[in-house]
Amino acid sequence: MNDHVVLECRDLHKSFTEGELDVSVLKGADLQIHRAEKLAIVGPSGCGKSTLLHLLGGLDKADKGEVFIDGESIWQVDEGTRCRMRNRTLGFVYQFHHLLAEFTAQENVAMPLMVGGELASLAMQRAQEMLTLVGLGARLKHKPAQLSGGERQRAAIARALVTRPLCLLADEPTGNLDQATAAQVFELLLRLNIEQQIALVMVTHDRHLAKRMDRILHLDAGQVSQQEYNSN
Ligand SMILES: Nc1ncnc2c1ncn2[C@@H]1O[C@H](COP(=O)(O)OP(=O)(O)OP(=O)(O)O)[C@@H](O)[C@H]1O
Ligand SMILES: [Mg+2]
Repeated sequence: MNDHVVLECRDLHKSFTEGELDVSVLKGADLQIHRAEKLAIVGPSGCGKSTLLHLLGGLDKADKGEVFIDGESIWQVDEGTRCRMRNRTLGFVYQFHHLLAEFTAQENVAMPLMVGGELASLAMQRAQEMLTLVGLGARLKHKPAQLSGGERQRAAIARALVTRPLCLLADEPTGNLDQATAAQVFELLLRLNIEQQIALVMVTHDRHLAKRMDRILHLDAGQVSQQEYNSN
């Protein structure tokens, strides 16, 4: 394993208050993700996997503990800096694609670059290259509703990776797809991991997919409790 840590969390605590009920989800979660590493996060439904991913991505703030993107603490800086760090370093893929319905695939993929201040023409060109890379070169002008489930998920991956992030956070990225399409999307993630040296953090319920990652982390009782190293 190389020693470039692209994303790290230390002692993360997170509770949610539901009326009278205080649900403590994370109770000191620690995690380091190295450059180009493939990591699976597994654990029973409701154990806090999505919560952990949200905190790692700076989409939500922990009650206690710290998150470091490429060595820098994300809550010690102002909002604008944090957004730039996130935009530059991380990509997100969710179980549901979250593409914007009124925009074409190409516009959707170009969006993170334009938000980051890139010229529209360059952003659209990069979006085309990225969509071609995920096998959607002939679907540039399609809107999400005109794409199949697998195509939408591939477009979402293209959008997540168009900024060339160091790390992709994926929450059950193939969970809504049929088996053949899920396999295709997963192979695509593995290929991009190798070709672009992107670290891959994937929440999955699929044991076979988890087995193909470098490490499997088990989330249990609010902590990263067990680690398995795969030899593949
Ligand atoms: N915004 C929220 N408000 C209140 N409770 C929440 C919130 N988000 C998550 N929770 C609670 O935190 C716990 C962990 O949720 P989380 O979504 O992280 O689980 P998960 O491991 O991703 O589960 P699954 O495998 O079903 O996706 C759940 O009990 C959930 O009810
Ligand atoms: Mg979840």
